[in-house]
Amino acid sequence: MNETLDSVLGAIGNTPLVRLDRLVRHHGCAGTILAKLDHLNPGFSKKDRAALGVVEAAEREGALQPGQTVVELTSGNMGTGLAIVCGIKGYPFVAVMSKGNSPERARMMAALGAEVVLVDQLPDSRPGEVSGADLAEVDRVATQLTADKAAFRADQFRRRGNPDAHEHMTGPEIWRQCGGNLDAFCDFVGSGGTLAGTSKFLRAQNPQIKCYPVEPAGAAVLAGQKVTRAEHPIQGGGYVMDDLDFLRGLEWDGFLQIDGDTAREITRDLARLEGIFAGFSAGANVAGALELLKGPHRGQTVAVVICDSGLKYLSTDLFP
Ligand SMILES: Cc1ncc(COP(=O)(O)O)c(C=O)c1O
Repeated sequence: MNETLDSVLGAIGNTPLVRLDRLVRHHGCAGTILAKLDHLNPGFSKKDRAALGVVEAAEREGALQPGQTVVELTSGNMGTGLAIVCGIKGYPFVAVMSKGNSPERARMMAALGAEVVLVDQLPDSRPGEVSGADLAEVDRVATQLTADKAAFRADQFRRRGNPDAHEHMTGPEIWRQCGGNLDAFCDFVGSGGTLAGTSKFLRAQNPQIKCYPVEPAGAAVLAGQKVTRAEHPIQGGGYVMDDLDFLRGLEWDGFLQIDGDTAREITRDLARLEGIFAGFSAGANVAGALELLKGPHRGQTVAVVICDSGLKYLSTDLFP
């Protein structure tokens, strides 16, 4: 039997689902957390799925022409996924990223063949803490570049290929791997693609499965809270956007808020106790799952996604 893949694109998805029994025990909780190891994707993040989903949907719809340049605003992970997908498929790719995101992301995208455009943060922003206002500036530059180059904007905040990838891949994989034994799913929101797509599939299998957005404490706009602190170290989301396309009209079973220090601590626990070397948002997701086990889902099973690799944060204070 021939088990070779045509390209690395075939290695996107189908990541393992691991029980975090040691971590759950360490925190004195009853129940099970299932971690989807998406940091093991070729670009070391779950956004490989969204990148493949957006590009292949655009190819099918004729929105992307052979050899056309692709432009995207990214915190690094979508850009890395797109660098891989575009590189394999022959589309030039330009990644537009805030200087507030960690530099290893820019270097990785460049190594994969992307042109990387870095955008200054606003004067009162802190490196490592990309605010919604910083992101608006990155968006302005990406929009201009798209027009200048007559490019295809991958537009992870709007194109359905993003949530659809999670509805057609992430959700079904979790469901199959846990044999349908699942009570809840929670996810730290950036574009909302993972939360929307995965929740849609899981709820369609069993409407009793409860789904929860995770947001930074102090910036919990989906929960309807007042913003008291927009800056946080949880890269990849928490942008204080209360009207995300993919979440419009969807209902949640509750809302979880995790502060940066807790996300950092739990990310360190993941490494130390479980051998899972992940980034801040994975820690936020697991922290959210622990809250659920301490609250409404005591003794039950909660799934989360390990969004990206800790290797992307070696220049930050995550692993001193
Ligand atoms: C590390 C990380 N965590 C979380 C997210 C949020 O995922 P989504 O855009 O699917 O909401 C992203 C998105 O880029 C990310 O890069």
